[in-house]
Parts: sequence; structure tokens; C-alpha cells
Amino acid sequence: MTEQIAQWNSRFKTASAEEVIGFFLDKYRGKIALSSSLSIEDQVITDMICQIDKSTKIFTLDTGRLFPETYELISQTNQAYGIHIQVYFPDYQDVERMVAENGINLFYDSVELRKQCCRVRKLEPLKRAFQGIEVWICGLRQEQSITRYGTHLVEWDDVNGLIKLNPLYLWHENEVWDYVKSHQVPYNKLYDCGYPSIGCQPCTRAVKPGEDIRAGRWWWEAPMNKECGLHSRKK
Ligand code: ADX
Ligand code: SF4
Repeated sequence: MTEQIAQWNSRFKTASAEEVIGFFLDKYRGKIALSSSLSIEDQVITDMICQIDKSTKIFTLDTGRLFPETYELISQTNQAYGIHIQVYFPDYQDVERMVAENGINLFYDSVELRKQCCRVRKLEPLKRAFQGIEVWICGLRQEQSITRYGTHLVEWDDVNGLIKLNPLYLWHENEVWDYVKSHQVPYNKLYDCGYPSIGCQPCTRAVKPGEDIRAGRWWWEAPMNKECGLHSRKK
């Protein structure tokens, strides 16, 4: 697989995101899925997918702690494109146990507890979402953070045993916005209120002008910790 991935990365070096998505949707029909957090990146990819094959699986992980604006956008996106974004929930027993042991807002108490919350609310449901899936499409971009500089177009995800596709890996933020505006892609209203990166409500705040785009994510933690584990490279 390593050789095949290297071959794809060289073949698609100068290809557009649409071409890359088109190739993989065709080759892996029924075994490919976009995980969407409803970010502008994921909305751009959703728009591209819907122009090619609306039956493609698009799913979101509902942690139970999302912003009301994000729920609104799930509904709006379904209506705009005539699709059904599949919503995965965490195991209620795991959530109840975690909250009973550590409190409802455990994430503020330590990095370990924050990661436990992300594991229960995102990583476990993600495993279920991947059943029968061989290719995982994501909206990661290299410039988003120091933890993402090494992102490639096609990667092997050793943690989940999947091919991972990052069609916007080289896009700049302004290019994402240009696409959103020119294609009238529905987007989260929070972007207009100073939120350039949106996750769960208690772990996301607005940023001040000039601050890093991920400064509002887990803002009380050091930059190297600011990943929920979805994109971890280690098992
Ligand atoms: S995070 O790790 O900090 O939360 P970010 O919000 O930048 O990630 O999103 C990066 C990519 O991770 C998204 O493009 C999407 O593919 C995936 N992702 C993040 N959160 C979710 C979610 N709640 N549901 C589905 N996919 C998600
Ligand atoms: Fe829990 Fe915050 Fe992680 Fe959401 S981002 S799963 S609320 S720790």
C-alpha cells in the first residue's frame, strides 16, 4: 500500500481537488466516506462530492456538546443538497460513566481528562462510522496548525487501517472562502462572529483579530496538545 500511496501522491501532485475526489469516489464507490465537522473545508468537499455522487457516505460525529449553529447547518446542508448526513452518537453508558466519575465539564481539569472526553465522544463512534469503509476523506489543511504541517494528499492511516485522503491539504484559508462564496456553499454562522475553527461548544471560543485560527480551540492547552486524537498518527 505504501508504494501505491506514493504513486497516487506523485500522480495527483498538480491535480485539482475535484479531480482527486472524482478519481477516488469512482474507484472506491460504497467504500469511501467524508467525515464532516461542518467546517468550511468539509462544506467545500461536500459540495464537490454532491456534484459527482450524492450517494457517497458523509457522516458527522455528534459529541452531544456541539453548537446550536452546527446542528442548524447539518439540517440546512441536507436540504440544500438533498442528502442525509449520517449522525453518529457516543455510547450513552460510556458518557454516563465518564461524567459520573469526572464531572460534566471534565475537559477543563486536565489534558488527560480532555482527551478521555474526546475519546469517548469522538473516537469510539468514529470506529463504528468506519465499518465497511476503506477510504476516509478529511478537510485537513497543512497551514491549520503545527500539528498538521506534515499532512499529505494521500496517507495511510495506521490507527484505523484506512487510506486517508486530504483533498484540500495545500489550500489556503482565503481559497476555501473563495470557493464557499463563489459556489454559495452553506456555512456555519459562527464564522461571521469571530470563530475561524469550530468544534465542541465548551472547547471553542472566538479569536481576537490577528490570533491564530486555532487559538480558540482548547485555548487553555499548549499548541502541541491541540488535537482530539481523530488525526493521531500513533496507535
Ligand atoms: S479537530 O481534530 O481539531 O476537531 P478540525 O475541527 O480541525 O479537527 O477538523 C479536521 C477534520 O477532522 C475535519 O475536516 C473532519 O474531516 C474531521 N472532523 C473533526 N471533527 C469532526 C466531527 N465532529 N465529525 C466528523 N468529522 C470531524
Ligand atoms: Fe469533549 Fe471538548 Fe473533546 Fe468535545 S472537544 S469531545 S467537549 S473534550
